[in-house]
Amino acid sequence: MRIAHFSDVHALDLTGVSPWRFFNKRAAGYLNLLLRRREKHSLGLFDSLIADLNREPPDEVIVTGDLTNLSLEPEFALARRKLDELSLGSAHVTVVPGNHDVYTLSALRDQVFAKLFGAYFESDDKHREFPLSRLRGEVAIIGASTARPSPPPFADGAIGAEQLEKIERLLESAKGKFRILALHHPPLDNRHAVLRGLRDRKKLQAVLARVGCELVLHGHEHRDLRQELAGPNGPIPVIGVGSATYLDDRLDRRARYNVYHIDGGRLDRIETRVHDAASGQFRLFS
Ligand SMILES: [Fe+2]
Ligand SMILES: [Fe+2]
Repeated sequence: MRIAHFSDVHALDLTGVSPWRFFNKRAAGYLNLLLRRREKHSLGLFDSLIADLNREPPDEVIVTGDLTNLSLEPEFALARRKLDELSLGSAHVTVVPGNHDVYTLSALRDQVFAKLFGAYFESDDKHREFPLSRLRGEVAIIGASTARPSPPPFADGAIGAEQLEKIERLLESAKGKFRILALHHPPLDNRHAVLRGLRDRKKLQAVLARVGCELVLHGHEHRDLRQELAGPNGPIPVIGVGSATYLDDRLDRRARYNVYHIDGGRLDRIETRVHDAASGQFRLFS
């Protein structure tokens, strides 16, 4: 099976959004956006990404959050329109939210993400809540939400006791499948963990050490990361992918996505496809 993984498209669309909307946490985010990110996450690259995925569709697509910048309705609508262009359809495209998708308390309260992306995190039993569970051939996809609003400069996340307990049960019952856990925040002890890490990562690490998992996928860091966590039968690969829409001259930061080849219950190889400015298309990088 071929599983594509992209993240952090940060679709920007301020159409019809009144400046009054920014008299809250969004003000800081908006300024940050204008000063540092303007023109950095290109909608053209989002189109190229969708075209590349449709050219030779994988079996599944996994999107690890931060579809938007400020959790604004036009941003969600834009991201939804683009995802709907994927020929695989929502049953084979799995989406979990990032911190930018519940950027404010009102975005969380109004369940904007859930309203627009419900079909993309619907479990096999038709429930639309996290953690989600989708069995697809030899693969079991389990998706968690780590997204929650937090005041600037924090960009941290948390899974919570209820999800953790369900994740453990889902991983346990999917033993024998190639289990993929998808979440936005990396479940690792990195040096920025206090500001932007997963608060209950130790608890998730303990769950993974007990029941195991074949692959953990995340976004959030806007760079490719390949790390490991301890599992009951050896190390579990933990893979972060850079932003799929990031304009940058540096080959290691430029817009990209990964394709995992799973064969006979094991991760056979990983391809990274990177955007090439000259052709305007994504190309195999490694
Ligand atoms: Fe992001
Ligand atoms: Fe993030």
